[in-house]
Amino acid sequence: MPAVVLVGAQWGDEGKGKITDFLAEAADCVVRYQGGSNAGHTVELDHEKFMLHLIPSGILHPTKLCVIGNGVVIDLGKVIEEINGLQQRGIDTSNLRISNRASVVMPYHKKIDEIEDRTKKIGTTKRGIGPTYADKISRTGFRIGDLLHEEDFREKFTAEVARKNRLLVEFYNEPGFDAEEIMAQLMAQIEILKPYIADTGLLLHNTLKAGQKVLFEGAQGTLLDIDHGTYPYVTSSYPTAGGACVGTGIGPTEIGRVIGVAKAYTTRVGEGPFPAELLDETGELFRTRGAEFGTTTGRPRRCGWLDTVILRYAARINGLTDLAITKLDVLDSFPTIKICVAYRYKGERLTEFPDSLHVLEDCVPEYIEMPGWNQEISHITEYADLPLATQAYIAKIEELSGVKQALVSVGPKRDQTIVTTRLF
Ligand code: IMP
Repeated sequence: MPAVVLVGAQWGDEGKGKITDFLAEAADCVVRYQGGSNAGHTVELDHEKFMLHLIPSGILHPTKLCVIGNGVVIDLGKVIEEINGLQQRGIDTSNLRISNRASVVMPYHKKIDEIEDRTKKIGTTKRGIGPTYADKISRTGFRIGDLLHEEDFREKFTAEVARKNRLLVEFYNEPGFDAEEIMAQLMAQIEILKPYIADTGLLLHNTLKAGQKVLFEGAQGTLLDIDHGTYPYVTSSYPTAGGACVGTGIGPTEIGRVIGVAKAYTTRVGEGPFPAELLDETGELFRTRGAEFGTTTGRPRRCGWLDTVILRYAARINGLTDLAITKLDVLDSFPTIKICVAYRYKGERLTEFPDSLHVLEDCVPEYIEMPGWNQEISHITEYADLPLATQAYIAKIEELSGVKQALVSVGPKRDQTIVTTRLF
């Protein structure tokens, strides 16, 4: 299967970084297609832990081509920081390629994100993601390739900074930015990044044409999708499988498989409705046992039981062919385990994820309860060796989501992954 897309099936933080790193072993190329440094992908190797925000998790495999596609918004300082951090730890980054069509996150985007979230209260990561995508859609943004034409860029950029300063100074009563100062910084940064910049759409086309295996690594998750998520409590990109095409320039017929990564329970960071959220000590248990704190912002994640209404929705929106179920070991010591199977809304039973936030806000979860397994599973390497109660829990997830699992993860390390289906 030449092209495989990996997406978050919930609200992000499903453990995509670990699964991408694991699958990267069999891939030739790993690609990020949306989002920016709002993402936080954690990969734990034997004695080391890596936190990646922009660079695909495949970078930890030295021979793999790693691509940041056109759909990503790039904070140049952050990507350089990440490259330097990896190099200092002996990781070769020469196989990294960055799209010349990717949008650049400017200092004013981060400032506007911070200011506007004070009133919008989305709970953004303040990385400038929304304002950068807004400018891209308004056609007032700048792409990586624009920075390679200094004189033309200077003229347009100076005019844009003047417009942004009017907004900041006159409307928000905040200090403005010095265009020349940012210009100098950008020119120095683009010089460092030059060797990495490429026409990545063409590169991926040729890679696929040569029969190589490409893994598309989604960031965030289905319910944070700008169109299909819990709008307006979403990110500003397309984390769903369709985003892999628009965010990289490959056609949909290239995609053979779509893997949905789902945590064995549910978490969410930031504001917005979350029907299965637990505000009690069980929620607190998930947070402590699962170390549920944001990789990018350190914020505590909101936690709840697994919601299969969401998984059915993710299966539909992404066309999931397989599930990767992560953090199963976090449930090791629960005597019984609940699964949300439907919502109750004003006396009605809903089995499909509502298309209205007003409805979702008033949904009450309907649970079934299953026996827990009450034993450690993080050392198990064969599916058949999992306790029967764990296997029954997984089978119930498959039944309720309509998607078969292809792998389950029982710990943060590479070898704590049980594979039942070959994905490449
Ligand atoms: P933004 O992407 O910074 O604009 O934030 C918008 C919403 O998406 C907020 O609720 C964030 O907490 C959430 N979000 C953004 N990136 C991630 C992620 O990588 N994991 C989980 N939530 C995220």
